[in-house]
Amino acid sequence: MLPSLTKEGNQRGGIIPRKLIVTDSVFSMDGDIAPLPEIIELAQKFGAMVMVDDAHATGILGNTGKGSLEHFGLKADDIIQMGTLGKALGTFGAYIAGSRELIDYLINKARGFIFSTSLPPSVLASAIAAIDLVEDEPSLRQALWDKTWYLKKGLDSLGFDTMGSETPIIPVFVGDAGKTMEFSRRLFEEGIFVSGIRPPTVQEGKCRLRATVMATHTYNDLDMALDAFLKVKKSFL
Ligand SMILES: Cc1ncc(COP(=O)(O)O)c(C=O)c1O
Repeated sequence: MLPSLTKEGNQRGGIIPRKLIVTDSVFSMDGDIAPLPEIIELAQKFGAMVMVDDAHATGILGNTGKGSLEHFGLKADDIIQMGTLGKALGTFGAYIAGSRELIDYLINKARGFIFSTSLPPSVLASAIAAIDLVEDEPSLRQALWDKTWYLKKGLDSLGFDTMGSETPIIPVFVGDAGKTMEFSRRLFEEGIFVSGIRPPTVQEGKCRLRATVMATHTYNDLDMALDAFLKVKKSFL
C-alpha cells in the first residue's frame, strides 16, 4: 500500500516531506513504455506515491484502452493516473483518476482547477463520444496497432532507426537538427507530414522525425509513406 494522502498529511505537520514519483507511461519522443511495475516497487520501498501521465496511453494501451495500468494489469487504488482528452480522444482537456480522497483534495486545492472555466459542453460531449468509441470499437485500436507495426517494420527494413519504439509514436533517428528539418520538409513535398523534433524537445544530436499512425490510415497510405521515406533518404542522407 502506498501512503494515503490524509494519513501522510496528518503525520506530516510540515515535517515529513511527501515523496512522489512522476513518470510518463508512454514517452512522447521515443515511444517507449515506462516499466511501471518496477517503478511501483521502488515507490513501495521508499514510501512514495506514484503519478503516471497517460497522455499517450489513454485509449491506446491496455486491452480495453484504459491506459498503462490496464496494460500492466495493475490495480489503480493508490496510483494517480492522469491523461489528456487531446491525443487519442481527439478533443481537449485532461483528467485525473485516483482515490476518492485524492480527487476531493484536488477539487478543493488545485488552483488550476478551481480558478479555470470548466470545459464547454461541446468539448465534453466529443470526449464522451470518443470514450464510447474506445469502449465499443476495439477493432479501431487493433487496426492502430497492426498499422503501427506495419510502418515500424517497413521503416526498420529500409534501414531507418526507430529507436526501439513500442507504441504508435514512431521516432526515426536523424541526429543533426538541420538535416532533420530538411528531411521533414522534403517528406512534406512528397505529401507526407512527419514533424521534425529538435532541441529543446530532445537533446542536441538526437534529433528525429516523429511519425504517428492513425487507425484510419490505409495500408496504401503507409506504403506511400515508406516510398517517400526511401526516396528522400536516397536523395538526401
Ligand atoms: C506526456 C504529455 N503529457 C501531457 C501533455 C499535454 O497534453 P494536452 O496538450 O492535451 O494538455 C503532453 C502533450 O504533448 C504530453 O506529451
